[in-house]
Amino acid sequence: MDTERDTGGVPAEPVTTPGVVRGDRVHTFRAPGITVTWSRTRCTHAAECVMHLPTVFEPGRRPWVDASQASADAIARVVTRCPTGSLHFERSDGGEPEATPAVNTVFVSRHGPLHLRGDIEVRDEDGSVLLRDTRVALCRCGRSRTKPLCDNSHQAERFREPGAITSPERVEDPGADEPGLRVVPRHNGPLELSGAFAISGADGKVMLAGTRTKLCRCGTSGAKPFCDGSHKKLPGYGE
Ligand code: SF4
Ligand code: FES
Repeated sequence: MDTERDTGGVPAEPVTTPGVVRGDRVHTFRAPGITVTWSRTRCTHAAECVMHLPTVFEPGRRPWVDASQASADAIARVVTRCPTGSLHFERSDGGEPEATPAVNTVFVSRHGPLHLRGDIEVRDEDGSVLLRDTRVALCRCGRSRTKPLCDNSHQAERFREPGAITSPERVEDPGADEPGLRVVPRHNGPLELSGAFAISGADGKVMLAGTRTKLCRCGTSGAKPFCDGSHKKLPGYGE
């Protein structure tokens, strides 16, 4: 079998490789035609991969990813379902790379994180890139140990929030200079979004388009998914 595991390394800063979060260790699994990479830090065990391709993605087996067990096309399709961006692939058989969605989307999940897709860049307050990817899951319960990323702590913490869009006036549209969506997690504050995006809620009732907003990441806003300033009563919740 031409598959290997635990061959990743910690990327140098700043991050330039799509899908690699700064300081993360990425595991590489090779097979003819395709190489799959997996970030343990970014995996929330949502199991999209396991459900759709259990012969390739089998928790408990070592290595848990065996990319020789399905066609490169099938693996590529399932990898792009991974909502957190933990999984990525590189084709060596001439197959198409993952396409960047034309529209940047933010999906507010029920009792769970914010799922972003598109041309997404997460930056520190000082402007350095933490993560650039087509798929990102961001914490909105305030409990993740890998903020601003989701680490599934919302489950253990029993975060209950239906994911409906309220307060639509909190989405602004001053225009965007570039096609990408930039996300800045403010210290002890919200996620600031700038760039064109469409945001929708878990109930599917509302979709709003805009180019600027602030999303709650402390879990206490009364105007979720938007920030209403409630974080000021919670000093030190962020990172
Ligand atoms: S789909 Fe992504 S986040 Fe979910 S278990 Fe697989 S690798 Fe982890
Ligand atoms: S980040 Fe939660 S209210 Fe501002």
